[in-house]
Amino acid sequence: MKYKISIPTTQHSFFASADETILEAALQSGVSLPYGCRGGRCGACKGKLLKGSVSYKEIPKGLKKDMQDDGYALFCQAHACSDLEIAIDEVEKLKQIKILRMPAKVAKLEQLSHDVMRVYLKLPENIRLKFFAGQYLDFIQDNGEHRSFSIANAPHDDDHIELHIRHIDGGEYTQYIFDRMKVGEILRIEAPLGSFMLQESSPRPIILMGGGTGFAPLKGIIEHAFHIGLEKPIHLFWGVRSLRDLYMPDLPVEWAHRFPLFQFTPVLSEPGTENNWEGKTGFVHQAVMKQYPDLKNFDIYMSGPPAMVYGARDEFMEKGVPEKQLFSDAFEFNSQMEQTETG
Ligand SMILES: Cc1cc2nc3c(=O)[nH]c(=O)nc-3n(C[C@H](O)[C@H](O)[C@H](O)COP(=O)(O)OP(=O)(O)OC[C@H]3O[C@@H](n4cnc5c(N)ncnc54)[C@H](O)[C@@H]3O)c2cc1C
Ligand code: FES
Repeated sequence: MKYKISIPTTQHSFFASADETILEAALQSGVSLPYGCRGGRCGACKGKLLKGSVSYKEIPKGLKKDMQDDGYALFCQAHACSDLEIAIDEVEKLKQIKILRMPAKVAKLEQLSHDVMRVYLKLPENIRLKFFAGQYLDFIQDNGEHRSFSIANAPHDDDHIELHIRHIDGGEYTQYIFDRMKVGEILRIEAPLGSFMLQESSPRPIILMGGGTGFAPLKGIIEHAFHIGLEKPIHLFWGVRSLRDLYMPDLPVEWAHRFPLFQFTPVLSEPGTENNWEGKTGFVHQAVMKQYPDLKNFDIYMSGPPAMVYGARDEFMEKGVPEKQLFSDAFEFNSQMEQTETG
C-alpha cells in the first residue's frame, strides 16, 4: 500500500510505501528534499508534519523530544503510516543531478599529514559525474555498509574526485585506507549525495567554518565560487587542534593572495608552545563570533565534527542568525538508535 505525501507550499506530491523512508520515496519521485547524513543524526532532513503520522524503525538520535512534540520529523528515517502533509524547503537544484552507483578506481594516494590522506578517484571513461561543490559520496563495502566522504574538488575540475580522509582511531574503513588501500584498486561508490552546497543567488557575504577535514567540502565550494567569479566577501575559518593538523596550510594563503575578497583565518585549539603560534586560538566558532560580533547578515557554512557543527549552530542562532542562513555538513558516523512511533 502506498501513501500520498503532499507538500502544500509547492503543491508537489509523491507516494511512499510503509517500507521505504519518506526521503527515499521523495528522491525516487524527483522531489528534492534536503538531506545530509541519511542516518537520522544531522537534522538536515527535518520537516514539519502538518497532517498524518509517521513511524521510525528506531528513534533517530537527531530527533529530540521537543522537536517531536513540536510536530517535526526526520524524513531520512521516517516511514509514512498514513497520507501526509509536510512542510519542508525543497532543494530545487538537486533536481538537476542523478545519484549513481558506479565503480571508481583509486588513482593516487597522498598522505597530507600525520592523519589525513588525500585520495584521488577516477571514474569510468563513459561516466561524467554531475555534482555540486560541497556534496559527498559513499563508499559501499562488500557487506553493504556505507562510509561517507566529502568531495573536495569543484565540478569544473572533475578529471578526478578528490577526498580528504582523516584516520579514525579504531575506525575500520579509515584504517583500511591508510594501511592497505592500493592505487589501481576498484571501489564501489554512490554519488553525489547531500544538499550542502553554495547558495549562489544569496546576496549575503559568506563565512565558511571547517573543523579538521571539514575543510574538504569547503575547498570545493571555494574553488567553485572563484570559478564562477562570485563577487562577495568569503572568510574561511579553519579550526584544527595544532599546527600539524593544518594539512594544506599553503592553499588558503595562496587563495587570499589571488582573490582580494577572500580571507583566511586558521584557529588552533591546542597550539602548544613549540611552534610559537601567534595566530588565533580556541574554538573556531568563538573566533568567528569574536571577529564578527554581528553575524545576522551572513550566510554561514559549517562542516566537520558534529559537536563543533551543532555547538556553533546553537550559538549562532542565539546570536540572532536566522536558521535559513546556516548550512551545515556534520561528519556523523554510525550509532545506536531506539524504537518508537510518532505523529
Ligand atoms: C556527510 C558526511 C561527510 C563526511 N566527510 C568526511 C570527509 O570529507 N573526511 C573525513 O575524514 N570524514 C568525513 N566524514 C566522516 C567519515 O564518514 C567517518 O569518519 C568514517 O565513516 C569513519 O569510518 P571508519 O570505518 O574508519 O570508522 P568506524 O569503524 O565506522 O567507527 C569506529 C568508531 O570511531 C568513532 N568515529 C567514527 N567516525 C568518527 C568521526 N568522524 N569522528 C570521531 N569519531 C569517529 C566512533 O566511535 C565509531 O564507533 C563524513 C561523514 C558524513 C556523514
Ligand atoms: S538526519 Fe536525516 S539526513 Fe541527517
